[in-house]
Amino acid sequence: MFHEYDVLVVGAGGAGLYAALEAGTKGKTAVLSKVYTVRSHTGAAQGGISAALGNVEEDKPEWHAYDTIKGGDYLVDQAAAVTMAREAVQAVYDLENKGLPFSRTPEGRIAQRRFGGHTRSFGQAAVKRSCYAADRTGHMILQTLYQQCVKNEVAFFDEFQIVDIILDGLRCKGLVAVELSTGEIHTFKAKAILLASGGFGRIYKITSNAYASTGDGPAILARRGVPLEDMEFFQFHPTGIVGLGILISEAVRGEGGILRNSSGERFMERYAPTLLDLAPRDLASRAMMTEILQGRGIRGDARIDDYLYLDATHLGRETLRTRLPDISTFSKTYLDIDPAEKPMPVHPTAHYAMGGIPTDVQGRVRADGKDSFYQGLYAAGECACVSVHGANRLGTNSLLDLIVFGRRAGLHAADYVKQADMPRIAADESDPAREMIVALRDKPGNHEVRAWEIREKMQSLMTAKVGVFRTENQMSAAVEELQALRQQYREVGVMDRGAAFNTDLLEVLELQNTLDLALITAESARNRQESRGAHAREDYPDRDDKNWLRHSLAYLEKDGVRMDSMAVDTSRWPPKARQY
Ligand code: FUM
Repeated sequence: MFHEYDVLVVGAGGAGLYAALEAGTKGKTAVLSKVYTVRSHTGAAQGGISAALGNVEEDKPEWHAYDTIKGGDYLVDQAAAVTMAREAVQAVYDLENKGLPFSRTPEGRIAQRRFGGHTRSFGQAAVKRSCYAADRTGHMILQTLYQQCVKNEVAFFDEFQIVDIILDGLRCKGLVAVELSTGEIHTFKAKAILLASGGFGRIYKITSNAYASTGDGPAILARRGVPLEDMEFFQFHPTGIVGLGILISEAVRGEGGILRNSSGERFMERYAPTLLDLAPRDLASRAMMTEILQGRGIRGDARIDDYLYLDATHLGRETLRTRLPDISTFSKTYLDIDPAEKPMPVHPTAHYAMGGIPTDVQGRVRADGKDSFYQGLYAAGECACVSVHGANRLGTNSLLDLIVFGRRAGLHAADYVKQADMPRIAADESDPAREMIVALRDKPGNHEVRAWEIREKMQSLMTAKVGVFRTENQMSAAVEELQALRQQYREVGVMDRGAAFNTDLLEVLELQNTLDLALITAESARNRQESRGAHAREDYPDRDDKNWLRHSLAYLEKDGVRMDSMAVDTSRWPPKARQY
């Protein structure tokens, strides 16, 4: 089946829905999503969205921008971070005006709480900057934006899996997707495609990410020759439920929760004397892994690794009930622990990709490290790299990134389509994707090589070899093993011959995407010979601004990954050593 839109948004999380809302006011717009819209992974974001409203204590966008840049270990493009922090305030009020039910102060203002790395007066002390709706902030954003999109008659294609994007040189013309409920293959022609397809935490074994977070957008573009930026920087959130990775929001520490080791010590006093448990995530996760590796963790067993405690027992039932209801339920459901009575066992969990599809602040996708852009191709949200997070994102800046840059990309795309012609797609341009699907379905399938086995091997090796701490040897081994798995992938077939909800086919398609992104992540990590933000190398323990204060650009080629680089905008605050 064929479709035609002015703007086609891929992904129905916060960035996609905001972009669709803006684009939908000016052009015929649709959103295509692999899951039912309000089940997008934005719904799992718990603790809040940052904005210097100053509702509870003094705050300024300037301080917010500085914290973001310092938190990102100076690999942040500084003008982009200033834009994000300045637009944050209006963005939050816009969400409120659209109907988002924020938690409130006793005076009726939007409530705010502390989060890691957010400070007042350029690092003096933690500041209350996170605007929240209990611990369901992402969920509320999704509901609010979805309702607005429905009101504004944005079209939705739910449960459609993107298979290919049609590029003709630097012009984007459309995409091919498979409708999961029927197996039918659809071609969408559009003046502009806007990717907001989310992250790819599923390259790791233990992750806070949803099963659908397989990086379909960036992987497809990488196979089409688009470079990916800063892929070595993958964030490990300090507090995942041990063994499962499910997120226990940093809001627990924002409300006063404390990390403790096996002797009950508040060990963050040794690692971050000023911000303590609210140090940025890279630092907190490294501190936790150090405690565990040096034997001060709590013993796990055959099923779970050694872990640490997140202690919220002193917060009181009322705070847990009103401000942290979801994590209280998670703790009871998955751990059988009431957080008002006992501490929660936690371990760092793969959480967020700082890297992704390179864009400018309008969401336009870069074709290289200079100033060349694709026409009619946009990206926003976790799949994109603006870059406002640099080497390490601050908590609550991700929901902000979605809203600010989703909106900006939607607005730019809406203007672009006013003057752009509808592209023409020749039959043979969508053929490769169609033929690939048909071939996968019809291929006899090698019963010796199963997709789930390759996936599990990939996830285990990424967790073991491209995790919180990294070395040359481990990463080289990871690259070699990933190449072997990509070779095995060629033999994989689809066992299920059915058309409706063929989850076997979906898994095989997703596996190709995660394998490619895992390889690019491992190669980008091996290439960067320094430690910065979330990229901690035991063999290069220091940050090296002389040689490495530059963005990585990775090109996926036939035989591997080719690395290049791009300048970082440091126009505002010169890089300094980070202290917390
Ligand atoms: O801990 C959290 O609530 C996560 C927030 C984020 O990643 O921004």
